[in-house]
Parts: sequence; structure tokens; C-alpha cells
Amino acid sequence: MTCPFGHGKPPSRRAFLGAAGGLVAVAGSSGAAPPVAKTLAQSAIEPFWGPHQGGIATHQQTHTYFATFDLLASQRAQIVTMLRAWTAAAARMSTGQTAGPLGAEPAKIAPDGGAAIGLSPARLTITFGFGAGLFVKDGQDRYGLAAQRPASLVDLPKFHGDQLEPARTGGDLSVQACADDPQVAFHAVRELVRLAYGVAQLRWAQSGFLPSTPPGETPRNLMGFRDGTNNPPHSLSDRPATADLPRAFDRVVWVGEAGPEWMRGGSYLVARRIRIALEHWDRTELDFQEEVIGRHKYSGAPLGMTGELDDLGLEREDGEGNPVIGETAHVRLGSALANDGAQMFRRAYSYNDGASFTAERWPPWRQGMMYDSGLFFLCYQTDPRTSFIRMFERMARFDALNQYTTHNGSALFACPGGIDEGTYIGQRLFETAL
Ligand code: HEM
Repeated sequence: MTCPFGHGKPPSRRAFLGAAGGLVAVAGSSGAAPPVAKTLAQSAIEPFWGPHQGGIATHQQTHTYFATFDLLASQRAQIVTMLRAWTAAAARMSTGQTAGPLGAEPAKIAPDGGAAIGLSPARLTITFGFGAGLFVKDGQDRYGLAAQRPASLVDLPKFHGDQLEPARTGGDLSVQACADDPQVAFHAVRELVRLAYGVAQLRWAQSGFLPSTPPGETPRNLMGFRDGTNNPPHSLSDRPATADLPRAFDRVVWVGEAGPEWMRGGSYLVARRIRIALEHWDRTELDFQEEVIGRHKYSGAPLGMTGELDDLGLEREDGEGNPVIGETAHVRLGSALANDGAQMFRRAYSYNDGASFTAERWPPWRQGMMYDSGLFFLCYQTDPRTSFIRMFERMARFDALNQYTTHNGSALFACPGGIDEGTYIGQRLFETAL
């Protein structure tokens, strides 16, 4: 292997970044490398080790690549070996290094495909999840883990209107890479897929993106509405750009004493691929769009209010005694008040997979050539039974938004607590089960 810098050893991604700093220094003719490039690279690094996995409380990156896997392994030990390798590679990649050290030995297959060489770490986070199939699959306790399956890791019920495609649903494991660079995110998952060879294989994958919204502003989704306003914590202006969010967030997201020990500090992830009939939406009057959501489109304020962060005021009525925010408005059905206090943390991305012929059966205006675009809805919570499932059972029946949306992919994963340096993801689970 040769190094493009002319050295015997190929560089790590970091070495490239450092070298880039050196080039800046030469260009600046001072001779000494300024700290700028290094500082930039470091500020693009999110912590990998710690009490929680990255990619949940992390200030949302602009891109994601999400993948689920079917386990092929016959032995639990094979899974442990893979998880060790995944952890080591993920830790390296999140600091901007290649998945494995390049040039350490004359490997036939290089320890990294190289697609992210020279790129910034781009705040890469990799979040791992365990699906029900790791514990029990087709009634079989394949790996002696059945007794460890948490009660919260249920099989999601079939919701009203679901049109789930098996090829976009489920999975024994999940890996979500988030980064401010789509190639960094995709590269990270590719490297893990490669390390999984023979033990786990890709089942389905979904990429997603956010717009580059100015700091402090709520990003707009493809329907043109601000999405994420009423996420815990409520106040956007107080929202720090780090993992250190207020306690309200902690209560909603992190599994505590009630969970199995290996899930403490972890969270349950519900993923739904929701196709939006954008052609139909684009021909819908603005007033009606706002009634569907229950908020004003441009300001993001609740209907009849002016500030994005104003309370919903669900009790408000118009002159004729009708609720200002209608009974079927999306935000009413999603509000904690209407759901016995149920809350979740939404960390969704838009997706755009081109256009295709839809085979959807209902409604009739959603048949024919359509954008395959929408929302890759991702939400975290301490228990999906009292959060997502509680809320979505009603939403799936009554939400005015359903005229425009079709859920065609779905999965639930238990994302274990964070990883201490020197251990591997899920170690506490695998050790408990010995
Ligand atoms: C294509 C699908 C969806 C779109 C376009 C969408 C869009 C929005 C928008 C624009 C808001 C208002 C701003 C905000 O507070 O974030 C909102 C709020 C919310 N959505 Fe969705 N959403 C979708 C699906 C879902 C699903 C499947 C759920 C889960 C059950 C959900 C749960 C919520 C919750 C909990 C709120 C906050 C309600 C409140 O307390 O004010 N959404 N959504």
C-alpha cells in the first residue's frame, strides 16, 4: 500500500486532517502549524464512550444512514466477537480514523474501504440497537438470551392503516450512523456491514437528511412545517448543542432503575418509514394544511397564536364553540395532555428516494407515480408501550395527517446504555446471560 503523502505508511483519516492543517500553515508561511485545523477537527468529534450512546441526545446532525441486520450466527460467541469489532471500529471512526489501522499488516482486504479518508469526523455518532430477534426468533431461543428480553421490547402491534413492507420492517440488530456529512455516515455503516460478514447481514437501510437550518431554529420537514418544536426540552433557545440536556429530557428518554441493568442509560427506538403524498399536499390549501397540523406554517406557532414556543392552548375555542386546534389535528393527538402524559423524543429525518409507482391500496389519489419521499420518523423513549404505542394507536385512527401519509416500514430496538472504554456494546447483557 502506498501513501499519497509519499510516506511508507498509509495515513489515518486524522493524519490527513493534521496534514491538512500543516498545508494551511505552509500557505500562511509562518512555518508553524496553526491550531485552527486541529480545533476544527476536534470540534467535529462527538464523545463515543460514556453513560449513554451517542446519536440520541446529541445535537442532531444533518444526515443519517440507518441499517438493520438479520443475524446469521449459530453461536452467541460469534455475535460477541462481532460486537467487539463493531465497538472498536465505531470508536475509531467517530474520531475521524479509519475503521481499522491501515497498513498494520499485509491484509488481502484493507481494514477500511477508504471512502471517508481525508474527511472531517463530521460529528459522527453510531448508535446500536437490539431487536426482538436477538432474544427470540420464530419461537427459538437461538442464543440463550430469551430470558433477558425486556418486557418493553414488545412486538409492535399492527396499527390502523399500516402498509408495512417486510423488506423495510424489523431486524435483529440496528446501527444508526449520524453525521454532518452523508458520506461519513454511509461509510461508517458500510464498514460495520463488512465486519459483520458471516455473522449478520443487512436487512434494510434508510438514509435521511435535515436542512441546514440556522442555529437555534427548528428545521422544516418536507411538508414545509417546523418539526421538533414541542420536543422535550420545550425551550429551543435553552437547547444546548451538546449531550447535556435538562432533566425533562432524561425522564422521557433514558431507561432507569425499572429497566434491566444493561438497559440503564439506554433507550427504546421506534423507527417508522412514512411516505408522504407530497403531490397531494402541494395542491392542498394553506389553511387546510395548518388545520391538519394544528400550527401555522410559517411561524410554527399554534393556531391562533404568534410565537412558535407558545403553549398549544388546547382548551381554546372559537366564537362558535369549536376547538381552535381541531380534534383531529396532529399536534393535539400528539400532545402529552391528550395522552395521559405520554411523551417521546423525536429525532426524525426527511428522506427522498426518488419517485416510483406506488402499489398502495388506499386512498385512490395515492396511486400512480409518486415521490418516494417523506419522514423517517425516529423516536426515543423509556418504554414504547406507554409512549409511541399509547400515542400512535389513536393517531393512526384519527389524525388528519393520515390522508397524506403511509407507514411502510417499522422497527423497534432496545438501544443499550453507553459503552465504557475497554468494553463493547451490550457487554452487560451478554455477561448477565452467561
Ligand atoms: C409524516 C409524518 C409526520 C409529520 C410530517 C409530522 C409533523 C409534525 C409537526 C409539523 C409537528 C409540530 C411541531 C412540533 O412540535 O414538532 C409535530 C408534532 C408532534 N408529532 Fe409529528 N409528524 C409526523 C408523524 C408523527 C408520528 C408517527 C408521531 C408519533 C406518534 C408524531 C408525534 C408527534 C408529537 C408527540 C408531536 C408534539 C405534539 C405536542 O406536544 O405539541 N408525529 N409533528
